[in-house]
Amino acid sequence: MLSISSAPAKAILVGEHAVVHGQPAIAVPLSQLRACVDARNSARPLTVSSSHAVSASFRWCKGESDSTDPLNLAIDLTARFFAVNALHGELMIRSEIPVASGLGSGAAVSAALARGVAALLNRGIPDDDLSSIVYEVEKLHHGTPSGIDNTVIVYERPLYFVKDRSVDFIAITRPLTLVVADTGMPAPTGAVVADVRDRLKRQPSQTRDLFSRIGALARRARISIEAGDHGRLGQLMTQNHELLQALDVSCAILDRLVQAALNGGAFGAKLSGGGRGGSMIALVSPESEASVSDALRRAGAQRVIVSAVSGGITTS
Ligand code: MEV
Repeated sequence: MLSISSAPAKAILVGEHAVVHGQPAIAVPLSQLRACVDARNSARPLTVSSSHAVSASFRWCKGESDSTDPLNLAIDLTARFFAVNALHGELMIRSEIPVASGLGSGAAVSAALARGVAALLNRGIPDDDLSSIVYEVEKLHHGTPSGIDNTVIVYERPLYFVKDRSVDFIAITRPLTLVVADTGMPAPTGAVVADVRDRLKRQPSQTRDLFSRIGALARRARISIEAGDHGRLGQLMTQNHELLQALDVSCAILDRLVQAALNGGAFGAKLSGGGRGGSMIALVSPESEASVSDALRRAGAQRVIVSAVSGGITTS
């Protein structure tokens, strides 16, 4: 029997980096872009493969797998959750989410893989348990993740996130149209998060001030989203990009794409995720979507995706 499990990409509207240090942030799922896992039952020991990376093909065996490998760890933790010693069948990963693009590819693959293991066992995983599993795997990717990526990807709903607090979903009264552009440069999220932590040690008061200004933008952005005020939300996103530049997590191509989106008529634009590569997002009106997408391609974006985010779910 074949069953298909999946999880979406994500974008951070406001608040990355500061969220690691206790400030609020807002994230949305990009349901149009997904990581999928095909699960096929068989009597043979579990094999895992990927449609785009032959090297990802391996056989899973409890206690014998490499727990520093994210795919292995996702399966180990899921097997432990269900208290099983052996798994049988095949899992095939198919992800549309560009790797190291700041769009949560690693977390989405982990979530889809854990759901695939559950499907082989004919069981389901509650979202909060799945989110904890994905969080553990995220530590391999990013060292000290805030938990925002696993949460938005597993629940697949827009959220206002504060580290170590319970999940707070946001009602999107007026659908948001986001244009997401990939720089094509890998985002080294773990290294950038570590650099920000280092900066906090070297320049504590200036860095804390940047964090709290970013947190204030996230609080205002929530009000704008709930009021359906896209013009104001766009301004807050652009201000967030400026604060991320001051935190030294942007780079020339991200700045160029942000400027191109603004020139093309976006309400606002910013990098999204860890920065220094990866992706940026622009908030647009349905009328400016085409001109912003064109401007981003002309400015060097490798891939441009348009996603609509509406009341709790996203549609393409
Ligand atoms: C990465 O998507 C967002 C960061 O804030 C890291 C984190 O929150 O774990 C840069």
